[in-house]
Amino acid sequence: MNDIRTELKDFASSFNGELKQYFPLPQGPEKRVVEAMEYSVLNGGKRIRPFLVKETAGLFDVPLNQALRVGAALEMLHVYSLIHDDLPAMDNDDWRRGKPTCHKQFDEATAILAGDALLTYAFEIMSHKNTHPDAKIRCQLVQLLAQAAGGFRGMVAGQMLDLLAENMQNPNNPEELIRKIEEMKTGRLLRFAIEAGAVLGQADMQAHNALMLYAMKIGLTFQISDDILDVEGNQALVGKTLHKDEAQNKLTFVSLYGLQGAKDLAKKLTNEAIAALEMFGNKAANLINLAQFIIERDR
Ligand code: IPE
Ligand code: IPE
Ligand code: MG
Ligand code: MG
Ligand code: MG
Repeated sequence: MNDIRTELKDFASSFNGELKQYFPLPQGPEKRVVEAMEYSVLNGGKRIRPFLVKETAGLFDVPLNQALRVGAALEMLHVYSLIHDDLPAMDNDDWRRGKPTCHKQFDEATAILAGDALLTYAFEIMSHKNTHPDAKIRCQLVQLLAQAAGGFRGMVAGQMLDLLAENMQNPNNPEELIRKIEEMKTGRLLRFAIEAGAVLGQADMQAHNALMLYAMKIGLTFQISDDILDVEGNQALVGKTLHKDEAQNKLTFVSLYGLQGAKDLAKKLTNEAIAALEMFGNKAANLINLAQFIIERDR
């Protein structure tokens, strides 16, 4: 494997340079909210979602700057979801990406506002004419991102169900429930990354369907591996407090099937994800390696 870790690391460092450009020097006392946004966006992060946009768009030779702008919009929205996920009213986490969480570094109200502002900033970036010359494509991307992030089967719906599930004694069909939680809270934004690449590239139906199949599989696998890392990861590498899912009575594939069962399922999904990319041949090498990385990752 052309080391995907190196590939991702190099991408993350150049992408961080891109992201900095979205934070001009703030003015006035209200700059506190911008400082909190910037702190949370630029404090590390694997940048997997923007990498997925770039790689998928690359299948169709989309200009790189378009993919990077869509990736930046998505990363802003992803970071908002992390800031709010860490709040005391949600997972109550003190560490994120190896640094104090936004509400620990600043304060709760500032963290809420920084999340709100990143959510709206995502749409400001996405809808700007530099993202794509065709307004119809920009509008399609805006709509898809709003759906992926929102309260109707989107990320927010998944977060709601994740919190509700903490207090469910014996859910009827726990496997179906976990699948729903994980696909919505994490899968939807990852899927958007891939779908956005396909939209930018104006993929035909066959390519679009193949990519969506890949996206569904890796979206779910990504959260399964996050749940596995919570149990057996190395805290210094993962950069967040571990063993919290069990402490907070989270419903995950690990809590239902145990570590080995979750790993077996992740492996199966990864093989299916890779098989879905067959039609792209060697051009999809990074997407294939990324699927493999997701189950082998240590952070
Ligand atoms: C963490 O996402 C939250 C989940 C949706 C599982 P990442 O593992 O992509 O976190 P960063 O962006 O690299 O910090
Ligand atoms: C979070 O899932 C998914 C989000 C929408 C942020 P987790 O709560 O497991 O994510 P971590 O482990 O805190 O990153
Ligand atoms: Mg959570
Ligand atoms: Mg959390
Ligand atoms: Mg987690």
